[in-house]
Amino acid sequence: MALSLNVKLGPLELATPLLTASGCAGYGKELDAYQDLACFGAIIGKSISKMPRMGNPYPRTAEVTAGLLNAIGLQNEGFDSFVKSTLPKMRGFGTKAIVNVVGHDFDEYVWLCEHFDAEEGIAALELNLSCPNVKDGMKFATDAGECERLVAACRKATRLPLIAKLSPNVTSIAEIARAAERGGADILSAVNTFVGMSVDWQRREPRLANVTGGMSGPAIKPLALRCVHEVARAVKLPVMAIGGIASADDVLEFMVVGASACQIGTFLFVEPDAATRMLAELKKKLIDAGIKNPAELVGTLKLPA
Ligand SMILES: Cc1cc2nc3c(=O)[nH]c(=O)nc-3n(C[C@H](O)[C@H](O)[C@H](O)COP(=O)(O)O)c2cc1C
Repeated sequence: MALSLNVKLGPLELATPLLTASGCAGYGKELDAYQDLACFGAIIGKSISKMPRMGNPYPRTAEVTAGLLNAIGLQNEGFDSFVKSTLPKMRGFGTKAIVNVVGHDFDEYVWLCEHFDAEEGIAALELNLSCPNVKDGMKFATDAGECERLVAACRKATRLPLIAKLSPNVTSIAEIARAAERGGADILSAVNTFVGMSVDWQRREPRLANVTGGMSGPAIKPLALRCVHEVARAVKLPVMAIGGIASADDVLEFMVVGASACQIGTFLFVEPDAATRMLAELKKKLIDAGIKNPAELVGTLKLPA
């Protein structure tokens, strides 16, 4: 049998196991010039809220060793404008469109799920439970009870496959993963950024106007791998890995610990056509290893007795 890269995560089927991570590829248009977007199983857009958001004051990004700190603060055009002008373009890239939603509060998340449910051509909704860069942005990601309550309400509000995106900034990511599973999520994605900080010592000033920001990029990969490992062992749900992914070997490592698909984020700023290269590498490595579908690898990690 020939190699197939098709993966199935509960109700969501993807032609390849690579996706864009929210906030790192706009809504697809930004990457379209660099590669055939069909190399992604789906495009996940930046978080959308009910009303437009201006985001945080500048400077909002700072480069750090092997990574990036950002405190964008969820700048986005808001539901109405997104549905009218951006979503139709997202549907035209020859791959699936996944909408990432974020609310200021419980009701806003539910409102967004209800309203996106009525729109055509959305393959799934991803709940951004965790934005470390906005005030009160962490409640649903850090409190298991709040997380379960929110996911359950969103579950009732939409028939679309529901992905709960977890924060690594918690004592036990496994506990939050179980809460999202109890709430009725179909898929978990892990992880969002790690809270970090960068300082210009000569000016005695933080490099971000927000003081702290979310750390991403290759530097966080071992941290994300540990998180995905813990999440995959805690739940029965399929998991999407996120965090510093830059090569086919990274993808395969995340699969062995239990991820069924991988989102590529910060590395797209370094190499906007990374997915084309990674997909070719992935095919070769799977064929060389005699593997016919990535699913054969998922959760095959051998732990010491
Ligand atoms: C500039 C920037 C903006 C981001 N915006 C969002 C966002 O709007 N919603 C969200 O859920 N995650 C957002 N993220 C987090 C990424 O989707 C991803 O979880 C994180 O960056 C880790 O993956 P990476 O190391 O591959 O970048 C953002 C990340 C970056 C770097």
